[in-house]
Amino acid sequence: MSLQLKKVDVLIVGTGLAAVTTALHLPKALNVLLVAKESVHMTNSDLAQGGIASSYLEETSEAHGRDTYAASKGTSEKKRVSLLVEEGRRAIVEMERFGVQFDREEETYHLGKEGAHGLPRIYHAGGDETGRYVMQALRRALPGNVTVLEHVLVDDLIVHQGRVVGANAFLHEERFRILAGAVVLATGGIGALVDWTSNCPAVTGDGLILAHRVGARLTHLQRIQFHPTLLAVEEPQLVTEALRGAGALLVDRYGQHVMRHHPLGSLAPRDDVSHTLTNHGGPVYLDTRHVERLTERFPRLAKTCDRCGIDVARIPVRPGLHFHMGGVEVDEFGRTAVDGLYAVGEVADTGVHGANRLASNSLLECWVFGKRVAESMQVQQTDAHAFESVAYDLDRLGFQTLRKQIGKWLTISPDKDELKLFLKNTQSLPLTKHVTRQLCEQTLQLDAARLLARALLEMENDDEHDITARTTHAIPN
Ligand code: SIN
Repeated sequence: MSLQLKKVDVLIVGTGLAAVTTALHLPKALNVLLVAKESVHMTNSDLAQGGIASSYLEETSEAHGRDTYAASKGTSEKKRVSLLVEEGRRAIVEMERFGVQFDREEETYHLGKEGAHGLPRIYHAGGDETGRYVMQALRRALPGNVTVLEHVLVDDLIVHQGRVVGANAFLHEERFRILAGAVVLATGGIGALVDWTSNCPAVTGDGLILAHRVGARLTHLQRIQFHPTLLAVEEPQLVTEALRGAGALLVDRYGQHVMRHHPLGSLAPRDDVSHTLTNHGGPVYLDTRHVERLTERFPRLAKTCDRCGIDVARIPVRPGLHFHMGGVEVDEFGRTAVDGLYAVGEVADTGVHGANRLASNSLLECWVFGKRVAESMQVQQTDAHAFESVAYDLDRLGFQTLRKQIGKWLTISPDKDELKLFLKNTQSLPLTKHVTRQLCEQTLQLDAARLLARALLEMENDDEHDITARTTHAIPN
């Protein structure tokens, strides 16, 4: 097999907002490579609907900080939250300088409101197509020192003398090695490890396992968020919380308000709403009759309902996997415990979300921490080093069977027996050195799922338990 070798200053794994923000703010003298596992648009950032929370038009960032902390029920880190909301005040104008145009009405911005926010402070673009509009503008602004390569699967990081110096990868099916002065993981979360998700299919926990294999610390892996309103059709997709902010109510089949017991009603924090809906028993709908100018403000939703033959006045919804608050532990500059390795965006645990992320704080986190990673990065050139990857020797059918099992426990109330069964079924899979892209992709997913399963099982005893054990790739003789 021919082996291509590529040498860059900075390798960024991912092409969503965290990756692009980092690339936009790195010095222009650096040679930067951004890699997408599938196409460049296959990211959760591109799918974002609600928008970006910012206290830009408020007197201070305090109220935003309070709402963030309260939504997390006191589990987020106060200092990090302050940093997020304070630096996030500038995010809107900073993005505008790169060409992003947020929706306006008359002289000012049109602001949305979402669950657990005390004020309307969600900036959006193209109505409910914020992600697509923002990413289009920012990718267009990428400077000439940044190259974007699609269909690249990074399957292992290479470490030399305690420092990450590159990665093993596939470009389509072809083996490929990238040497880098620094590596940034911006791979997103874990949503697409299951089918019932709001996430883009490429987001399957790769960054977690890549970091874990080289000894980075992972924290709070059990902190997984379920979004209350995925469209209840065969191919689920998000129905933005901004719709409830605009007046939609969650009702049962008789039109009764399902969240009437909660002081914030349908705009209660996400975890509360998701739990109520999961335990409700019967079907739940979004009653949108009081939402003004729905088609104009939520064009994407209107089109989707039309395509699926759903009456937009009464939209069937149910909760689904949405966001991972836990991840690769980083300091306030996105540095992991391993030299040369950074993590940013959903893959990182920055401490700002705690156990329940406040709506529309995720794109904000990508921007604020992406800038911080870029501004503090230490790039150290390196010579060629090799590392031989191994993968589980498993055919497609075997993998699909195990993937189905993940869907049985990666739910809002994980079943302990299913967790144990999955761990047992995956604990001694055969390994091979004859790696292919498919085998490596499957292996990353199974290993990421195993990390989560162990974290969820340990949560039974200790909610804040960290997973620090390293994965060992022992090859049988
Ligand atoms: C939504 O639009 O409801 C999702 C936004 C988010 O996850 O912050």
